[in-house]
Amino acid sequence: METTFEPSLDVKEFRRALSLFPTGVAILTTVSEQGVPVGLTCNSFSSVSLDPPLVSWGLRKESRAASSFRNGKGFAINILSGAQQGLSGRFASSSIADKFEGVAWEAGLNGMPVLSHCAATFECTTFAVHDAGDHWLFLGQVRRFEHEISHHPLVFCKGAYMLLSKALLESSQQSPERVAEVVEARRLIHGALLELACRNATEEDFQALDAKLLEMERFAEAGAPQPRVEAGVEFFRLIGAATHNEIVATLANSLADVMRQNLTDAAASPPRSALVPLRREILKHLQLRDRAAAEEALGRYLALLVEPNVQPVQIPTPPLAA
Ligand SMILES: Cc1cc2nc3c(=O)[nH]c(=O)nc-3n(C[C@H](O)[C@H](O)[C@H](O)COP(=O)(O)O)c2cc1C
Repeated sequence: METTFEPSLDVKEFRRALSLFPTGVAILTTVSEQGVPVGLTCNSFSSVSLDPPLVSWGLRKESRAASSFRNGKGFAINILSGAQQGLSGRFASSSIADKFEGVAWEAGLNGMPVLSHCAATFECTTFAVHDAGDHWLFLGQVRRFEHEISHHPLVFCKGAYMLLSKALLESSQQSPERVAEVVEARRLIHGALLELACRNATEEDFQALDAKLLEMERFAEAGAPQPRVEAGVEFFRLIGAATHNEIVATLANSLADVMRQNLTDAAASPPRSALVPLRREILKHLQLRDRAAAEEALGRYLALLVEPNVQPVQIPTPPLAA
């Protein structure tokens, strides 16, 4: 259990701690001053009061949608079902100009877009907007709602969609062929992670990776299985964070959940100290922004995870710059 005190609050760790609270996923919609539909993915939705029926959610002040929600008469809350994960990614993207293109919706109260096939929808008038740090806190009074109890909601936890993690895990445990597919998927996704991290990682990301490697090297010596597994998963989670692409990092987090489960199942196996220099090598190539070399080292790393008896070719590596 890690304890963090407020004066030294580390924003990344704060977000991670908050991510342990599973939430649903909603698309918040309204219309802009020009009458154009506006929306974003949101997991800060919460129920507040039954009488009057009030709900709340938080909106990042820097969101492109901030003025539309602040100046609008109200908003619709579209609770996503497990089958609508694609919409969550679409409405969380800053680079899609028209998020509603190809999306089925109807104009509800005050013209607010109500998305089709959701688990539930709540149409609200704005009850209050409070200044809340880097977010605006909205309170909405529910004027109309619909729900479909047979739908399973999409659930978000630890930075990943739970349905996706669950599906991947079940799939990976079905047959030896499926295990091979998971290994291949992991190689591809991790290859994409390395490519993006080579392009986007900051010095701070490298420092976090370096600190994590030091921690892992201690566990490799001590041989404690569970912290070793956690540290291995954490290494790839940090590479995911270093991509600065929330969508790819979320996919990688789902794969990391599968990896954690598979590695925990195999935790009785002895420490694989040969993985330690390979992780160092991956980090070194990332720092040099050498994608091909990083991917090649990743290939040897994954081969070793799957075939622990195969020893990697030892390439002498110069010490990392301080
Ligand atoms: C699962 C998930 C939950 C999110 N929850 C919120 C939220 O509660 N409030 C918020 O302002 N942004 C939240 N975001 C981020 C916004 O969706 C994202 O910043 C926004 O859609 C970017 O588009 P914009 O540039 O049009 O604002 C969330 C993203 C995801 C993937």
